[in-house]
Amino acid sequence: MSIAPAADPAIRVQGLRKAYGELGVLRGVGFEVARGSIFALLGSNGAGKTTAVRILSTLLRADSGTASVNGFDVATRPGRVRESISLTGQFAAVDGILTGRENLVLVARLRHLRNPGRVADELLARFSLDGAGGRKASTYSGGMRRRLDIAMSLIGNPSIVFLDEPTTGLDPQARIEVWRSVQEMARGGTTVLLTTQHLQEAEELADRIAILHRGRILVEGTLEDLRRLLPPARVEHVEKQPSLEDVFLALVGEDGVDEVGVDDGAGEVGGGERAAGSGTRGRR
Ligand SMILES: Nc1ncnc2c1ncn2[C@@H]1O[C@H](COP(=O)(O)OP(=O)(O)O)[C@@H](O)[C@H]1O
Ligand SMILES: [Mg+2]
Repeated sequence: MSIAPAADPAIRVQGLRKAYGELGVLRGVGFEVARGSIFALLGSNGAGKTTAVRILSTLLRADSGTASVNGFDVATRPGRVRESISLTGQFAAVDGILTGRENLVLVARLRHLRNPGRVADELLARFSLDGAGGRKASTYSGGMRRRLDIAMSLIGNPSIVFLDEPTTGLDPQARIEVWRSVQEMARGGTTVLLTTQHLQEAEELADRIAILHRGRILVEGTLEDLRRLLPPARVEHVEKQPSLEDVFLALVGEDGVDEVGVDDGAGEVGGGERAAGSGTRGRR
């Protein structure tokens, strides 16, 4: 495994830009992820989350800007970056014909680990799948499949794990199970960058949250930092802290986004009172 100086952030992104023709998907994105932390890139459909993850995992080249992962530049040292990471995409890579244990053993073999069976058993236990290890993965629930997928991504001890929308399509119970798995990963010292559309997911899991909207980071910080962006809502004598949802809706608006427009100057912080008003509504 490649180790960079400990003081270095696990991920550093500066001025990242990517366009498809006229479509500016990333328009100057920058952030840092501290080692061993969970970082959430939060944004609606089409915000540019997967594009950012694909650049960081060397699957896609940026037009300009820089990104380093584990101290290695993604453009000039892609091989070293790949040795440092694993990527779990939006759709589970689990093979349904194999059992859970066989899936893990297969990946451990592909990575030339010495004792694939033991690696598999340890991971099954760690992700509470030991009872199901002998069953075909096609019989698993959505949450179990995703947990197996996450367990597979840890084989070979990558220091940084990218999870692109790890709970999209899961029911609330399965989502909570996956959250526990992600927390388990971080407890083991792995740096996690996850993307999500779920406000509660970012709220629940992330040490730091960046809101990506129309290709720009609107705000970045801890949940407390983000909450401080809005004044507490007042209801009679009861004071309520704004939730992440309030902050998100105030910044992004309630329409969400399916298409990213050409640079239109919109989407800056402090996007107006209308948005702030609509954001605090409905939580009282
Ligand atoms: N290969 C591509 N060619 C053209 N447009 C693309 C391509 N990949 C993504 N896009 C567009 O870029 C925008 C951001 O996509 P994506 O990064 O997948 O967003 P997210 O993961 O946040 O939903 C979307 O409008 C999408 O249609
Ligand atoms: Mg995506």
